[in-house]
Amino acid sequence: MDLSVKIGHLKLKNPITTASGTFGYGEEYSEFIDLNKLGAIIVKGISLEPREGNPPPRICETPCGMLNAIGLQNIGLKRFLKEKLPYLRKFDTNIIANILGETIQEYVKLAQCLDDAGLDGIELNVSCPNVKKGGVLFGNDGRMLKELISEVRKSVKHSTLITKLPPSISSIQKLARVAEENGSDAISLINTIQGMAIDIETFKPKLANISGGLSGPAIRPIAVKMVWEASKAVKIPVIGIGGITNFSDAIEFMLAGAHAVQVGTGNFLNPTVTIDIIDELKQYLERKHLKNVRDIIGKVHIV
Ligand SMILES: Cc1cc2nc3c(=O)[nH]c(=O)nc-3n(C[C@H](O)[C@H](O)[C@H](O)COP(=O)(O)O)c2cc1C
Repeated sequence: MDLSVKIGHLKLKNPITTASGTFGYGEEYSEFIDLNKLGAIIVKGISLEPREGNPPPRICETPCGMLNAIGLQNIGLKRFLKEKLPYLRKFDTNIIANILGETIQEYVKLAQCLDDAGLDGIELNVSCPNVKKGGVLFGNDGRMLKELISEVRKSVKHSTLITKLPPSISSIQKLARVAEENGSDAISLINTIQGMAIDIETFKPKLANISGGLSGPAIRPIAVKMVWEASKAVKIPVIGIGGITNFSDAIEFMLAGAHAVQVGTGNFLNPTVTIDIIDELKQYLERKHLKNVRDIIGKVHIV
């Protein structure tokens, strides 16, 4: 059975990968699962300098999901290259870095260093709702997105370049085309959707940041629709993200047009979820008498 898929020039042994920020730097999950089995590991967002993130509380549970306002806490580029990448390289899987800058120059520098360091893929996070600078600023503005991707493209020679789009009801097809036209090898979507929760005893917002990004099964139908829309608009591969917690969720995204998927909040609920999905995906294909996982991509029947 062939589970392999291609994202740009990158071959994944299967379409199951981890969503940035929900899988640490891989090491955190290595005692629960065999990292070699994953299609790719997408690591926690990296910025040029280390970031402390937002003050706590920065996570709260919601119906069918969670709100987070981590604010992209991370150890910074230098420590990632020195302390995390050598460990990740021991595994037979693709390593994709997720990056965030406050300016185009920061994105370019990050991308250049990671490309030089031999990362398999670079995912541009242009859609974090929890930081004041950068984040949504780039993702929601077609003109800024165009400039950002075309500048980054010039410095990325070997890595597959992925642009991670924000959920955008009015313009997901437009944003997808901007990514394709300006040199992105693939797009991934969606990032979290802005939300807020209030404690009725204290009258205070549950997050110190007041609002945060909603993730988990609550956002899945929105994400599936956007993946479907985006995949009709572009020829480059689409990676589906949003509330995947089992194999049928992953298949739903692939039928909608995703070439691969990322599992995010699902990892918090069940640390072996990615491997469970890979195993059950094989069983599903067998049951359907399909030998190739690519046969289900975009095969939703619309009459
Ligand atoms: C705690 C947490 C941290 C996240 N950090 C990042 C990040 O650093 N970069 C990024 O692009 N997305 C980040 N995300 C968004 C996820 O990668 C994913 O797009 C989103 O959670 C939707 O998928 P899910 O419903 O499977 O979690 C984060 C999400 C969560 C819940």
